[in-house]
Amino acid sequence: MPMNMRKPSGKAKSSSGEKQKPAAKSWQARISAEAGVLAERFVESLSFDTRLAEHDITGSLAHADMLAAVGLITADECAQIRRGLEEIRADIRNGRFKFDIAQEDIHMAVEADLIRRIGDAGRKLHTGRSRNDQVALDVRLWCRSAIDALIVLIRDLQKAFVELATAQGRVVMPAFTHLQRAQPIAFGHELLAYVEMLERDADRLRDCRRRTNISPLGSGAVAGSTLPISRTHTADILGFTGVAANSLDAVSDRDFVAELVFDLSMTAMHLSRWAEQWIIYSSTEFDFIRLADSYTTGSSMMPQKRNPDMLELIRGKTGGVYGQLMAVLAMLKGQPLAYNRDMQEDKRWLFSAYDTVEACLAISAEIVRTTVARPESIARRLDEGFLDATVLAEYLVKKGVAFRTAHQVVGALVARCERENIRALADLPLAAMQEACPAIDTDVRSVLGPDRVVRAYQSFGAGGLKQLDRQLRHWRKKFA
Ligand code: ARG
Repeated sequence: MPMNMRKPSGKAKSSSGEKQKPAAKSWQARISAEAGVLAERFVESLSFDTRLAEHDITGSLAHADMLAAVGLITADECAQIRRGLEEIRADIRNGRFKFDIAQEDIHMAVEADLIRRIGDAGRKLHTGRSRNDQVALDVRLWCRSAIDALIVLIRDLQKAFVELATAQGRVVMPAFTHLQRAQPIAFGHELLAYVEMLERDADRLRDCRRRTNISPLGSGAVAGSTLPISRTHTADILGFTGVAANSLDAVSDRDFVAELVFDLSMTAMHLSRWAEQWIIYSSTEFDFIRLADSYTTGSSMMPQKRNPDMLELIRGKTGGVYGQLMAVLAMLKGQPLAYNRDMQEDKRWLFSAYDTVEACLAISAEIVRTTVARPESIARRLDEGFLDATVLAEYLVKKGVAFRTAHQVVGALVARCERENIRALADLPLAAMQEACPAIDTDVRSVLGPDRVVRAYQSFGAGGLKQLDRQLRHWRKKFA
């Protein structure tokens, strides 16, 4: 609840006691006549939808402009409304506006204050409009700005990964499948994998923005209006690419909310996977990276600890975002057409999912920018795990051996190394290799070893140094 929000003063009395009457609301005199503070508190959304204030005012300014253009209000009334709304906006921005939950929601709070300020002209603002199309409009405008802000944050995190890949990307490390050592790659190749995920996230958001950017304003409560309003007029002012074609759909459509929260869930999932990866890498057992002190915390008991709490929180918060996606979908599934009050709840989940992912993206960029790879530590055990086994099989393919046969040959050689306690394939005597497959020649030495493998990758998108350079050029160009 914002600081300058009036809470209901008294405690709601039980049904046997005397009920406190909330402030009367002209548009629902019937309810307020009987309802007490308990009902007032239960129904309000002002404690969380004040975040829509800027968009609510922007929408009302456009609506007033349209009302004047079609002759439903005079130019003078429009000017008064504009002045009043601008004063309200200034008061909200500098915290002087007094929110009162008796006003129920941000739409009523702004309108009631406008009427208080300018009188009769203010009473005309809601002509040809309902809170149902108004809230649908405000949430769309909010989502649009949220999407734009997210895309900027995603780009910044991508840049942080590219910076690290530029600085330390050529460090050779193992890639894993099943968390078992698989093949050698450049560290930068792994970093750029996250840049790809984030690129899809940004693209998904742009796609969501396209569907979000349609104006519901002018759909009224449910069936439109008999007044000569112009929906394209407001849509143009507000930067929408079109108007929703069906009033029932327009006031009850929250697909864009579900979609955005899904997009946020996807980004949270990507961040969580990366966080998990780096939690593992920062452990003593791996020791592939070192996180900056500012993004680790100590233990209250164990003096030596450097815990990756920020990364753990990114991983931990992801579940909450998924929960919010489920909440939005479940909120929608039982609603008959068109607007139902259930829809008021969407904002809680939407705002919370956004706040979480926004914070995670921002801190992630800082974590990436302050983390360093540990090349000596990675190199110390790089010859373990037979990372060059696949390249040896491919060497045999180049010598004319069928891949399945080559796979068997190398499998047998690895087994022999393990039996005889030989750490790497390169340490096998040539005679032992030729015994397993006569196609093996002295030139085998020039392909074995992780450092040689990362130079030898040929296929597009592979984990080698050539590919890394190419991809770094691609991203730098894209960011420029
Ligand atoms: N606070 C409401 C919401 O967030 C606004 C719309 C209320 N409309 C109504 N007819 N009760 O959905």
